Formats: sequence, C-alpha cells, structure tokens
Amino acid sequence: MPYVRIRNLTVRYPGGLLRGSEVTAAHKVSFDIERNRCFALVGESGSGKSTVARALLGLLPIAAGSVQVGELQLPGMPRTKQLEFRRTVQAVFQDPLLALNPRLSVGWQVEEPLVIHGVPGDERRRRVAEVLDKVRLDASLMSRRPSQLSGGQRQRVCIARALVLRPSLLVADEPVSALDLSVQATILDLLSDLRKSEGLTLLFVSHDMDVVRFVADEVGVMFAGRLVEVGPPAELFASPVHPYTVRLLASVPSRLLAEGLTRPEGEGPPPPPLAGVRVAVPPGDKPSPSPTGCPYQPHCLHADLKCATEPPLALVSATHRVACCKALALARPPAAP
Ligand SMILES: Nc1ncnc2c1ncn2[C@@H]1O[C@H](COP(=O)(O)OP(=O)(O)O)[C@@H](O)[C@H]1O
Ligand SMILES: [Mg+2]
Repeated sequence: MPYVRIRNLTVRYPGGLLRGSEVTAAHKVSFDIERNRCFALVGESGSGKSTVARALLGLLPIAAGSVQVGELQLPGMPRTKQLEFRRTVQAVFQDPLLALNPRLSVGWQVEEPLVIHGVPGDERRRRVAEVLDKVRLDASLMSRRPSQLSGGQRQRVCIARALVLRPSLLVADEPVSALDLSVQATILDLLSDLRKSEGLTLLFVSHDMDVVRFVADEVGVMFAGRLVEVGPPAELFASPVHPYTVRLLASVPSRLLAEGLTRPEGEGPPPPPLAGVRVAVPPGDKPSPSPTGCPYQPHCLHADLKCATEPPLALVSATHRVACCKALALARPPAAP
C-alpha cells in the first residue's frame, strides 16, 4: 500500500477577479507516493502545485476527494489524530525569511516545535543538537536572528525545524527557488541525503525541470489544476507525451542549450498559465459543476471533437500515465539503444 494516497483531490478558492466566482485550483488530482520515495510536482506558476501541497499539509479545506498519509486521512480527521498528523507531515517553503520569525533566535525556532509537542527540556536540547548536525549547521549560529544568516543557512534552519519532530513525510514547496544556484545544489544534496538517512517520503514542488530531474523518483506535470502526465523523470523527460509537457520541456533553457538553441518548428513557449478555472457561483447556490473538456484544448495543435470530454490519466507504458485523448497516438516508442 503506498504511504501517501491522494484521490480526486479538488480544492476551490472563493473569490477571484469576478465577484461571486470561485477558482478551482486543483481538480480531481490523484497520485501515490511510496514510502521513502520523492514525487515531484512541476508546472508553471499558477498551475496548482502549491494548492496540492498545502492541501496535503492540511492547510486548505478540501472540496472533494481525500489525502491519506499512512493511516491518517483528510478531510474528516478526528481531533485526537491531528497532533500526530502535524508531527508526521512537515513542510519547507520557498522563502526562509518569510517562514522564520525575524525577532527570535534561530536556535529557539528550531526548538519551538518540540516545546509545542511537549518534549521535555533535556530531550529537546539533545534533539536540537542532533538535527543541527544532520542539516550541517554550526551550533554557534543558533543565537543569531534569521537576518544574520545567509540564504542557504536560513533554509537549513527551516529544514532543521521541519525535521526536529522526526516526520515521515516532508512537503517541500519550491525549497531552492529563492537561493543562489551554487547554494541550490548544496540544499538539494542535503535533502537527498536526509531522505535516505531519515527514511523520509518527499513531495517536492518546483517549476524548475533541472531541479526535478535531480531529485525526483516520479514526476507529475500540472496544468490548470490538473495532473496531465505522470512518470519517472528519465522516461517523462526523454519521451513526453502530453502536448503541454512537450511544450513545457521545449522551453527549458538547459534543454535549448543542449539542443543548439533551436526550438522545434511551431513550438512557441507554453501558453500563459491558466489562472485556475473560474466558475461563476450564483449567490446562495451550490458551486457549479466542474468545468468539462480537456483544459489544454484551446492551446493544442492536436485537438479535435474527442477533446470535449475530459480525459482521465491513462497508461501509455507500465510506468507512464497521460491525460490526453490522443496519448496513445502521440506516444512514441522509446528510441532503440
Ligand atoms: N488564497 C487564494 N485565493 C484565491 N486564489 C488563489 C489562492 N491561492 C492560489 N490561488 C489561485 O489558484 C491557482 C493555483 O495557485 P497555486 O497553487 O499557488 O499555483 P502554483 O503553486 O503552481 O504557482 C492560481 O490561479 C492562483 O491564483
Ligand atoms: Mg507555488
């Protein structure tokens, strides 16, 4: 049984540009993460990655579907299980300066979760020393405020704060996007090492394909709140099938460089990210039914009448799933070795 199971997860935000409308930021998203594996969500800004991550953390109301971590399930988790859930599932976010309190020492901020969870003083000091060692932070920095550390050190503090409760699942939402390139590599190395040494399961969110290629065991591509393609990075990056993934990968700078700075004929940059799908809600009424049809249809070179029905994720190989009516026709057999 997979450790993390996300089934038909749908999240809506009230409001949006139109009064009385709501934004469906995640629509029937389903995927699993096996224990000790890293699943990465990729996609452009606004595609719904953080929404899925925050729903998995229990930070957003779930409109439909469910998330399950081990035996713990949302929505509808009993109060008696909520403390256990908050210990088991921890997060690291993009901007460590926003995640940390500027007025408190970083040492206190690493220790604080242990206080909240009622761990006694001696044990707290032992666990803080242990976690600082794991994230390779010098204990002498602990009396400093966040502003007195470098960006990389601050993100290590956030990782220490997340790991001090010994969670099983770490949700990392763009954890290196605010860091210099050289620092990014050290933090990614650290997360990979910690995953092995701590037996962590990881949901990793990033818009950066190169980062994802480095960390992920499985990749899910999001577009307009949907998961449109899922597979192991080697297969998905070598043989993308969904027309959106193809365009997204064609716009990755490192790939353009590797391919001599030429973009395939007719392949512009990906279309502007759809800002969720807005659904007008009549006052006092229940939310309207979910929008129908393939969300990529208006941008797709291959679209036809079939695409008026929303395609489910379907297998194109043993490990590779695509939500596209044309998937089987578009799937190319892997190149001969
Ligand atoms: N708190 C919010 N209220 C209303 N709309 C939101 C809120 N947060 C995100 N959205 C909208 O939901 C969609 C998905 O956002 P998000 O999950 O943050 O995407 P990503 O992380 O892929 O950039 C976007 O259209 C965004 O504008
Ligand atoms: Mg985001």
